[in-house]
Amino acid sequence: MFSRILKPGLATQSHLATATLKRYITYDITSDTATQPTDAMFDVMKEATKADDVFGIDETTNQLERQVAQLLGHEAGLFCASGTMTNQLGLRVSLHQPPHSVLVDSRSHVNLYECGGLAYHSQASVTAVEPTGSHLSVSDIQRHAIRDELCGAVTSVVAVENTLNGTIMPLPQLEAVREHTLTQGYKLHMDGARLWDASAASGIPLATYGRLCDTVSICLSKGLGAPIGSILVSDAPTIRRARHLRKLMGGGWRQSGGLARAAMYCLDNVLPGFGDTHRRTQRLWKGLEALGMGALLPVETNMIFVDTRGKVSLRAWAAYLKEHAGVVMDDSDDRIARLVLHYQIPDHVVDRILDLTQVFVQKHGTAPADDQAPDIKSAYPSAKPQ
Ligand SMILES: Cc1ncc(COP(=O)(O)O)c(C=O)c1O
Repeated sequence: MFSRILKPGLATQSHLATATLKRYITYDITSDTATQPTDAMFDVMKEATKADDVFGIDETTNQLERQVAQLLGHEAGLFCASGTMTNQLGLRVSLHQPPHSVLVDSRSHVNLYECGGLAYHSQASVTAVEPTGSHLSVSDIQRHAIRDELCGAVTSVVAVENTLNGTIMPLPQLEAVREHTLTQGYKLHMDGARLWDASAASGIPLATYGRLCDTVSICLSKGLGAPIGSILVSDAPTIRRARHLRKLMGGGWRQSGGLARAAMYCLDNVLPGFGDTHRRTQRLWKGLEALGMGALLPVETNMIFVDTRGKVSLRAWAAYLKEHAGVVMDDSDDRIARLVLHYQIPDHVVDRILDLTQVFVQKHGTAPADDQAPDIKSAYPSAKPQ
């Protein structure tokens, strides 16, 4: 069930001692995209219908789209290969005629990690705003929105991300942003790749968040654990248009039912456990804090931006955890790292990390003080920002 990376051929050599095999079991906490599909998922994939989704006639896919749309308080959904595609489609459907622009949080995935897709797909320029608080607010939008219809690329869409770096956008703030976008005539898109986490941690239903936005993208292949996919939700005409544009992007797929069925399995079997993942994340964080480490952001869901400055060398600590517990964490920066938990990181792994860290800090703390404040971007796995 857990992230097993076995050397080719090892699994079939029954004479190998368990101790030997254990060296090849890894627990990847670089991202919640690291979850691996389970045998149970492959089993249920056989139950799926096998019709064509370009034409929208595959019943399992349609069922998944209806289910997620309903959960998010919307009329219709579109199953796509990735969160990048559902974000880009969600924005594209609201961007009709350049010149136009999208106002985003400067730290957002849409701004940093989608290959400049807004320029490519929508001919839109991007207003990247560093919020004054934890998330974009009405005053941030008022200050930076482009209204100049003669020389500006007027703001057409505002995009928020929830969760963003594991932190939850407060509902009253989202409500205020919604109110403002309605009065100003902006569309509101939410990158809700991890909206599951926001909802599980806050107790606020997904639909309460979802109904406040014109379009929402939500990922199936992050904490939810599905092998592939993301869903865009909106009203039916908008989703019809998104389906057309998905084909244009080369994202029209044929027999998608098996993948949809695996995602439905995850909705039934993984989603109810999000609270446990958040409790484990808190336990890990409290343990690390007790050992003298810091965090760059509040720990609200499944992410810890751990700061080891003045305590240990992060790279040496990561190497120690890898060697002794098979824990894989990002070590692209020697001071901070983003640790991400998911349902395939069980309690005993958290215990092991904390026990080993205690030993490591006793042996190798304290690292030389480093006064330079790290940029949070350096806490992302550099080769694969997720
Ligand atoms: C917040 C956020 N949005 C969107 C995406 C894009 O998802 P995908 O990797 O499926 O394209 C990611 C990917 O990690 C993400 O973290």
